[in-house]
Amino acid sequence: ENRNIPEEEGMDHSLKLLKEGYQFILNRRYTMESNIFETKLLGETAICLTGSKMAELFYDTEKFKREGAAPKPVQKTLFGEGGVQGLDGEAHRHRKAMFMQVMKPDDLQTIRRLFAERWQKHVRVWEQQDEMQFYKNVKTVLFEAACEWTGVPLEEDTEARAEQISEMFETPAHIGLRHLKGWKARSDAEKWMISYVEQVRNGELDHVAGTPLEAFSLHRDHNGEQLEAETAAVELLNLIRPITAISVYAAFTALALHEYPGEASKLDSDDARERFVQEVRRYYPFFPFTAARVRKDFTWEGHTFKEDTLTLLDLYGTNHHPEEWENPGLFRPSRFEGWQGTPFQFIPQGGGEFDFGHRCAGEWMTVELLKEIVYQLHEHLSYDLPDQKLSFSLTEIPAIPESGIILKNVQPV
Ligand code: HEM
Repeated sequence: ENRNIPEEEGMDHSLKLLKEGYQFILNRRYTMESNIFETKLLGETAICLTGSKMAELFYDTEKFKREGAAPKPVQKTLFGEGGVQGLDGEAHRHRKAMFMQVMKPDDLQTIRRLFAERWQKHVRVWEQQDEMQFYKNVKTVLFEAACEWTGVPLEEDTEARAEQISEMFETPAHIGLRHLKGWKARSDAEKWMISYVEQVRNGELDHVAGTPLEAFSLHRDHNGEQLEAETAAVELLNLIRPITAISVYAAFTALALHEYPGEASKLDSDDARERFVQEVRRYYPFFPFTAARVRKDFTWEGHTFKEDTLTLLDLYGTNHHPEEWENPGLFRPSRFEGWQGTPFQFIPQGGGEFDFGHRCAGEWMTVELLKEIVYQLHEHLSYDLPDQKLSFSLTEIPAIPESGIILKNVQPV
């Protein structure tokens, strides 16, 4: 039996994607009553998938590839060119291993400690200030910890560099000037990082032994060749950029502590903090979807998938899918108590496997740093949240609380 994939009428829905943001796929799932449908985006047919069953299909590397999947605007800002996100097969497995090598439990504890030390230093500044914007400030703390952990020397003006790095994740879904800012930020940041790769290769940098900067600069690809300096720089930015981007979840963590005081009052153990940050990652939006292309023609449950068709997996929608979650619209950390999920259900940072698939290399690090952030915010800081615009829009990608979370009367506890 050949069943057609439900199809959205019309020529192109790219503008609707920009307008509907995180809810683009979710809205169509409702109206078409299907976890799989076709639409037209950026001038081509795109298959959209949502829910854990579809996620499992999407992460089958026999059926889907990443080559040519990321749209140009995303490569020019968020990802960079030649990085792990666009690789397949053996080339991907080998490059991904380079990332997973620096994500061992000791590495995670090291960055957590470096972050906590930097945070203490910044608290001494924050307590002198009348008010501070938490999102912007935590970006700088995360960026400094990222550099220190990676082995990249800290510059004088870390705030300006942290802003440049965040342009890369704040601008991919914008058009016009805002997007061009992201382009320029990437090109400047790559130049900055290439210079360190070259210094490592020329033996001109001290204190890099055992760091990711050294490992990535000297890494040899599956065919035994050293990476182009540009590619090594793209991959180092694939550490520093997303570590800085944890600031988005940090802002949502502060928001959740404020919006759900009942849940905040339960934060008395590392396990409780872990459930809280897992729920932050499920509940609040960050990555809307991820993209692949059909590797070769195949048929699945009667549906025909044609080679090279762009395919989007709804990350936000799967984390809010009523077939996957009880009361998905409620913020309820207790849902993660003894949680027995599959690798395809809870997918804020992608699903499937780390080593053989494209699941986020930094997922454990994200959870570890968020646990430290919720611990510091909740146990070791007192502050007031003055009246401000705390709302965020599901049509802005990435969504960030409008005020950036202004804190007043910050004091260490
Ligand atoms: C991939 C989200 C933090 C490094 C991804 C993917 C998503 C994601 C959605 C793509 C999954 C896919 O296409 O199947 C996030 C979010 C983060 C975060 C929301 C929160 C800030 C991090 C951190 C690091 C990191 C802290 C590194 C220190 C990577 C890398 C990939 C990736 C290297 C590419 C993996 C591959 O292609 O095999 N991330 N990430 N991410 N992430 Fe993250």
